[in-house]
Amino acid sequence: MNKKSTPCSRTGKTIMKYNINDTSDYHINDLDTLGWELTVCNSLESEGNPCRKILKDPDSFGNLLFKYLTKLLPFENIGRIIEIGGGYGYIMRDILSQAPHLNSVMLDISGFLLERQKITLEQVTEKGLNTLSFIKKDFFQTPSDFLKQFDLAILNENIGDFPVISEMSLEIMNTSPENLDDIELGVRALIEKYSLQIESSIFNFNLGAIQAVEKLCLSGIKYIYLSEHSCEVTEQSQFSDLKTVRLDKNPERIRLKGHDEYTVKFSHLEAVAENHDYTIKRGSYTDFIEYNRDSRINFIMKSNSSKDEHEILRHFITDLHKYEYLVLIKNTF
Ligand SMILES: C[S@@+](CC[C@H](N)C(=O)[O-])C[C@H]1O[C@@H](n2cnc3c(N)ncnc32)[C@H](O)[C@@H]1O
Repeated sequence: MNKKSTPCSRTGKTIMKYNINDTSDYHINDLDTLGWELTVCNSLESEGNPCRKILKDPDSFGNLLFKYLTKLLPFENIGRIIEIGGGYGYIMRDILSQAPHLNSVMLDISGFLLERQKITLEQVTEKGLNTLSFIKKDFFQTPSDFLKQFDLAILNENIGDFPVISEMSLEIMNTSPENLDDIELGVRALIEKYSLQIESSIFNFNLGAIQAVEKLCLSGIKYIYLSEHSCEVTEQSQFSDLKTVRLDKNPERIRLKGHDEYTVKFSHLEAVAENHDYTIKRGSYTDFIEYNRDSRINFIMKSNSSKDEHEILRHFITDLHKYEYLVLIKNTF
């Protein structure tokens, strides 16, 4: 995390303090496992694992996601797909296994993870059906022109890694622009352009996630899927007694090994997509990862049992409720 309390470059005055949470250095230089991050995708990877066993359809994350996306998107009309931040490559492996006609690109900031993706994806490329390439790049350095060629972009559980401005003061909206620095001007411009709602006087702002959605929309990609830990989930009524989620309108810091992530304010991403003429489907992982709510699960969720398997399942089920996704479909007139 970079601390920001330096004077404004133009006026020499110190206006406000804020922090920039930037994970790129960690992802480029330090990341050597996703083991600490317990992504939902990785939690469902091995066949006999306890998380898969409680599902109505005990399958891998990529297969469950693909089955769901085929209900929303016309895969027969999708030719080129890009996955940004594909982790170990499991989602693309599953998608390509089921849609062998797709030509795909894996773009990742982490050289370590790209190597892992190559190993995972050897299984499907060996069949020789798909064109697949790997690009080591920070998504924010990717030219917009390059993105235009794709029909579908996938960003799963990574937009919380993108830069976040924390502890920004709402005073930036009433301060004369010449007294603001470039970051403050950038945040203010986005708030004004997309009429973003900010509920507190000091707030955390998913700058990178918002810029990423804007960049994808401006490139005109027809279909976009993204997901992340949300700060805006409200409890679905049938699960309200589990108290798995707490509504917090401000993105919340999640401390991880070597870096911090932030939960995402999905209403801001919706506002951007809407402005760029996309139809939006928003939901939580429980839409496509359904679990059997039986007496054992009730016990596990309500008890504080410290058995390893119970702790794993409590964490997993809580995540299913806390993760939101957006499927964006470009309107055609
Ligand atoms: C938490 S992992 C998620 C991996 C996978 N999508 C999953 O669901 O298991 C975040 C991924 O995003 C990548 N990433 C983070 N920041 C990035 C950036 N600025 N540009 C490209 N990839 C990035 C990481 O290297 C990693 O592959």
